[in-house]
Amino acid sequence: MSALGGGAPKRVGVGIVGGGLMGREIAAALRRWPALIDHPVAPELVAVCDINPDALAWFERIDTVTQLTASSDELFANPDVDVVYIAVRHDLHERLYVDAIRAGKSLLAEKPFGIDAPAAESVLRAIDETPGAFVRVSSEMPFFPGPQWAIDYVRSGAVGRVIEARCAFLHASDLDTAKPINWKRQARFCGEAGVMNDLGMHAWHVPLRLGWRPERVFGVLSDIVRERPAPGGDGATERCDTWDNAVLHCRVDDPAGPFPFAAETKRIALGEKNTWEFEVHGMEGGVRFSTKRPKTVEVFAWVDVPGVGREQSWQQIDAGSQSVWPTVTGPNFETGFSDAILQMWAAFLAEREGSLGDRFGCVRPEEAALTHRIFAAAARSHESGGAVAP
Ligand SMILES: NC(=O)c1ccc[n+]([C@@H]2O[C@H](COP(=O)([O-])OP(=O)(O)OC[C@H]3O[C@@H](n4cnc5c(N)ncnc54)[C@H](O)[C@@H]3O)[C@@H](O)[C@H]2O)c1
Repeated sequence: MSALGGGAPKRVGVGIVGGGLMGREIAAALRRWPALIDHPVAPELVAVCDINPDALAWFERIDTVTQLTASSDELFANPDVDVVYIAVRHDLHERLYVDAIRAGKSLLAEKPFGIDAPAAESVLRAIDETPGAFVRVSSEMPFFPGPQWAIDYVRSGAVGRVIEARCAFLHASDLDTAKPINWKRQARFCGEAGVMNDLGMHAWHVPLRLGWRPERVFGVLSDIVRERPAPGGDGATERCDTWDNAVLHCRVDDPAGPFPFAAETKRIALGEKNTWEFEVHGMEGGVRFSTKRPKTVEVFAWVDVPGVGREQSWQQIDAGSQSVWPTVTGPNFETGFSDAILQMWAAFLAEREGSLGDRFGCVRPEEAALTHRIFAAAARSHESGGAVAP
């Protein structure tokens, strides 16, 4: 029953498969759940699966956890688990997602939703064949308050005819060629799409939700660092065979006229630490946001400058703390990555309950599958030198 009706929020048992970087982040976010106002659900982390005992041991600090296991089958068989979050290597997505869905669990899947398009299609089939399946895909950056303002601004029509748009997700740490290799830099684990598999969902969630499907993609992919030190520090190196950077120049056929959309995903963008940017320019307005200035949204306007006249101006507005689901956090306070994770989970579990309404939701499985077709088109474009339809 919804807390909005005065009843107690519905308890939902959560299981995590993959207790690494993201598994721990989600466990921490769920502990901040009381910050949400009148959410219909009260999630409780009850089970964690990881094949690495050290990773599992970290979760001993969470007193609601009653099952720590190395077997995903055991976790999927746990009747206390209603919802599963799976954060593992990309080559493991397909099997674990399909197993979770067929076991009757709701799923918040990590991106890229399978290692490639056939894997994503296989998960879609499992969803189709499982009555009541509820699956969404992780992409938290649009749950900062600023992107929510930007999305609402675009939806309001204030932009007018779109001139151009861009969404980017930028990292920098791979500039360090001494950084040891890991699974995200090896195609057999990360996928042929490389950086697009890693960062691409972040760059496509908002444009796809705004209805901007690319008709044509021109991909420029960069494989800059081709070897990295092997883990262990004995001087050996291993082949680093994933794309480091990918810039996709796309044509979106809007009813008002086609416009260029650029999706940039980079592991080597100088100085950038998890920078997510979104920008739309139109004939009547414009909006832009970057996590570099996480509380600031910029909105374009014509202004009357006293003594000067009418001028074009980018106005800076502080967006405060409130995003998709209201929280007890003071509206003037600052926001951050872990707040966005909490908001993404609030949206995921509210949508599962049918309580999200027209608020912004997590990536849908069919959108995630489409990103794989876009990445494959970008790779074919890079190879052929021409623009390719996804
Ligand atoms: N949404 C985001 O911002 C974001 C950020 C980073 C990573 N990710 C995604 O999350 C996923 C995991 O990335 P990560 O950075 O947390 O990786 P990670 O390497 O830190 O953690 C993965 C964990 O999975 C465990 N594991 C491996 N095989 C397993 C199996 N068969 N069963 C259970 N556990 C197993 C590993 O022991 C490890 O602890 C990937 O899909 C990645 O793309 C998302």
